[in-house]
Parts: sequence; structure tokens; C-alpha cells
Amino acid sequence: MRICMIGTGYVGLVTGACLAEMGNNVRCVDVDEEKIARLNSGIVPIYEPGLEDIIKRNVVQGRLQFTTDTEEAVTNSLFIFIAVGTPPMDNGEADLRFVLDAAREIGQCLDSYKIIVTKSTVPVGTTEKVKGIITDELSRRQRNDLEFDVAFCPEFLKEGSAVEDFMRPDRIVIGTDKERTSEFLKELFSPFVQREPRIISMSIPSAEMTKYASNAMLATRISFMNELANFCESAGADIEEVRHGMGSDKRIGTAFLYPGVGYGGSCFPKDVKALIQSARERGHDLTILKAVEEVNKKQKQVFLEKINRHYDSDISGKRFAVWGLSFKPHTDDIREAPAIEIIRELVSRGATVKAFDPVAMGNARVIFEGNPGVTFSEDSYGTLSGADALVLVTEWPQFRKPDFDQIRILMKEPVIFDGRNQYNPELLRKHGFIYYGVGRN
Ligand SMILES: NC(=O)c1ccc[n+]([C@@H]2O[C@H](COP(=O)([O-])OP(=O)(O)OC[C@H]3O[C@@H](n4cnc5c(N)ncnc54)[C@H](O)[C@@H]3O)[C@@H](O)[C@H]2O)c1
Repeated sequence: MRICMIGTGYVGLVTGACLAEMGNNVRCVDVDEEKIARLNSGIVPIYEPGLEDIIKRNVVQGRLQFTTDTEEAVTNSLFIFIAVGTPPMDNGEADLRFVLDAAREIGQCLDSYKIIVTKSTVPVGTTEKVKGIITDELSRRQRNDLEFDVAFCPEFLKEGSAVEDFMRPDRIVIGTDKERTSEFLKELFSPFVQREPRIISMSIPSAEMTKYASNAMLATRISFMNELANFCESAGADIEEVRHGMGSDKRIGTAFLYPGVGYGGSCFPKDVKALIQSARERGHDLTILKAVEEVNKKQKQVFLEKINRHYDSDISGKRFAVWGLSFKPHTDDIREAPAIEIIRELVSRGATVKAFDPVAMGNARVIFEGNPGVTFSEDSYGTLSGADALVLVTEWPQFRKPDFDQIRILMKEPVIFDGRNQYNPELLRKHGFIYYGVGRN
């Protein structure tokens, strides 16, 4: 099938590449000329395990193209996916500008029957707006004879395992009000769910709500655990023992119960905010989600306070080694990454930071360019020489079993602030470290 992907970011690029891998002919469009030029010269602009191989293979075999020409891509496709960003506005509302611009561009060049699928995460009612804009453009062009259908298919991939998630999804949600659109989309997605029937069809508003509801629930679990972790510290309990104890209950399950420095990334923070705001506009006060957001905001401060307290509220002149910059392992995405805020705060209080991340340092260098308080090292141990403390912020697997004796030798003071509970406190104490975790007594 012929597919046009409008927006070649984390979602658009992975979706386009994986659809091409299944034999479809995909054109990925972006307004970012530099990004398209890099892709056309073989450079993949994001880090995502397995993605580069799929892109290279499908480009060579002629099933995947990158272009800035929306019209050419739209007119040559049956399916048009909208996978552009929906960043938060100041009041938390999702900024739909890019989605609505894409709809307008589609309406301006539609020339035959197409299925337009919103994949960006959007509030209830947005796909209806997309339909309205395309209809208006067709009226303006006096081409109301042209038929099209709209659908909303939320994307559930996780950065860091996006290819794997897309190839083997837990479920595929198709939001549409037309049987024929549903059938077309089921056909398109069938190779990804061959083993088990995992396609769920529903109305467009329900599908739009399902995406926000899923992210909001995962964020809720994280904030719930973080709040309990803070309580555990004063109650003399260990949140890691509590997590095992409660997670083994099948009704609860083990996923997303990890306490830490709070959630970040390009989705949870903005989606929680957008859901709160869109509910507010309809007269609903989402009390639980407001608390989820509040706890998350506070969690980074709770961690920083722990560091501050260790130094009697004066960290000026201290040197911190920071391990991990991306908002989670296996990605180079630093959007709303807790590490960025933590580093900013440390430096603003007079400390200096030497940081390392396996793939996100390029993006972080841009953020901290010109800031003399932040430097980078090409490997994790290189951050440690003369450091007053090691601060672990992102739980990359390579940080899990380091050589503690070597670390102890390199550091000025043997202090570890473990923002992800990666280490065994007892073991570290045996190695002579002063250890701080999250929610451990
Ligand atoms: N990143 C994730 O893990 C993830 C997961 C699920 C859903 N989502 C949702 O998917 C959407 C996209 O997220 P992302 O992380 O891929 O964003 P992104 O910022 O990485 O990519 C968006 C791309 O769209 C391009 N763009 C904007 N307007 C355009 C236009 N008119 N024509 C062509 N290209 C245009 C931008 O230049 C950019 O390259 C968001 O709504 C997000 O909430 C993201």
C-alpha cells in the first residue's frame, strides 16, 4: 500500500520505517529541510535501537523515501498519516497548530480518495477538526466531489524500544466511524498482529481519549510510587521491598512502579497537562491528575534537597559526576529529562557538573553550550576524577554493575546519590560509600 507520513520525528520515522519493512511504499515528509537532507544522505537523526538498519534496508530496496514535498507524497498515497508534534502551550493545552497546518496542506492538494489518519496525540474532537479543515479547503478549491475519510490511530510505542513496540504491539487501536476505513486500516496493520488478534476498533473520540488515558495511568503509577517512597524514608520502610510486595499481586502488576526522580520525556508531562486542561475546558476538574503532576514536579526537588542536606545546604564549589542525561535509557531524547533540570539546579547553586550519557550528550551539549559549569566526558569513569559525589539520574544498563573499587579510587569523596535505586545500599556501604537512594531507609 502507498503511505504518506507527515512528520518525520520519533513517531513518524519509526512508523514509516516499520510500515515500509512490511512491504508498503512509504514517503516520509517533513518541513525540516536539514532533517530530510540528513536522512537522504544516510544519517538517522535520532537514536532508536534497530531503526537505522530498517531504514537503510528499506531505502536501498526502494520502499522508503524522504521528502519535503507534501503534495507529491499526498497525491501518490492512499493513507496519509499525521505524526507531527503536539507540544504544550503555556496553560498546558496541547498546541494543535502543526496538526491543523498538516490538515490544511492535505486539503490543498487532495486529488483522489484518501484515508487521513491522525497519529499525533490530540484531545477529543481534534480529528473532527482535521476533517473540517480538509472539507473547507476542498470547498475553497470547489472540489467537494473528492471523497476522503478520517481516522485516529494512537501510537503507543515507547522511545528506547520503539521499533520492537511497533513491530509487536500490545494492541492497535483504530478510531473511526466508517466500516470501510476500519477494514482498510485493519488490512494495513494486520502484519503486526498476525499471531494474535490485537486490533481494537472504537469511535474516534474514544480512541483519542484512550491514548491520553493510557499515558495518564502510567504517570499516575509513577507519582504514586514516588510519593510513597518519600513517606517510606520517614516511616522506616524500604520502597523497593514494598514494590516487590505489591507488584507481585496480579491485579497490580510490576510495570511502572519504579520510584525515582520523576517522569520526563516528550509525552507524559505534556499529555497529563493536556488532559487536565481539556477536561477543565469542559467543566471537569481532574483532581487525581493534578496531584500526579504536582508530585512529579516536586520529586526532582526532593532529590535535590537530599543532595543539599548532605552538604549542610551549601553545595557551592562541589563537583558532581552525573551519569545519564536522556529522560530514560536507550534514547537520545532529553525533552523534559529530569537530568537537565537537576544539572541546572546544581550549577545555579554554585556547583560544577561533569556528565556522561551513552547517546544523549550531543543533544545535551546544545542545551548547556556556553555554560562553564557543565562539562562532558567521553566515558562514565571520566566524570569521576576529583568528584565530590556521583549522581545517577538515568538507569542505562551499563551503569548497573560498575567497578565500585575503581570509582572509590577516582572520586574525591565516596558519595553516591542514586536517583533510580540501581544499587544495593548494603553493598555500597561495604565498599565504603555514603549512599542515598529514593525511599530506602
Ligand atoms: N515520542 C514518543 O515517544 C511518542 C509516542 C507516542 C505518541 N507520540 C505523539 O506523536 C506526536 C509526534 O511526536 P514526536 O515525538 O514524533 O515529535 P517530533 O517533534 O519528534 O517530530 C515531529 C516532526 O513533525 C515535523 N512537522 C511539523 N509540522 C509539519 C508539517 N506541516 N509537515 C511535515 N512535517 C511537519 C517536525 O519538523 C518534526 O520533525 C506527538 O503528538 C506525540 O505526543 C509521541
